[in-house]
Amino acid sequence: MLVASGYIVGYGVLSSGAGEAHILNVCVVPEEQNKGCGRRIVKRLIDLARWHRCERVFLEVRPSNPNAISLYESMGFNEFGRRPNYYPAKKGREDALVMAIELLPDP
Ligand SMILES: CC(C)(COP(=O)(O)OP(=O)(O)OC[C@H]1O[C@@H](n2cnc3c(N)ncnc32)[C@H](O)[C@@H]1OP(=O)(O)O)[C@@H](O)C(=O)NCCC(=O)NCCS
Repeated sequence: MLVASGYIVGYGVLSSGAGEAHILNVCVVPEEQNKGCGRRIVKRLIDLARWHRCERVFLEVRPSNPNAISLYESMGFNEFGRRPNYYPAKKGREDALVMAIELLPDP
């Protein structure tokens, strides 16, 4: 949870197990977007995954969400695959882009 001036401006959810972590959600309130909050939250989630000794972090994102994709790519995530018809969409279903980052062990 990212708190500023006493209120919640964003949050992220990470699950981990068996050496892998999964970012389940990242969200920043609209009026605080584009100020670096999302990057701080994702960095914190990656740090948490390292702390849990995970080797890889996965996430799913809608291909129609270029802001989020750009954030994840800029932090080192790469496209790993697609899950067809994963999300409900206005017109039926939308694929999920699966992205992943490898976490190198500390030297
Ligand atoms: C996606 C989201 C979490 C990004 O949070 P944010 O605080 O706005 O992101 P930041 O300010 O940290 O920006 C980090 C990077 O994201 C990308 N980005 C964010 N907003 C962008 C925009 N409006 N246009 C283009 N790129 C954008 C850029 O790569 C940016 O890096 P830069 O500032 O060096 O250009 C936020 O937009 C959000 O909560 N969206 C709604 C929920 C959602 O889509 N969550 C992701 C689900 S997978």
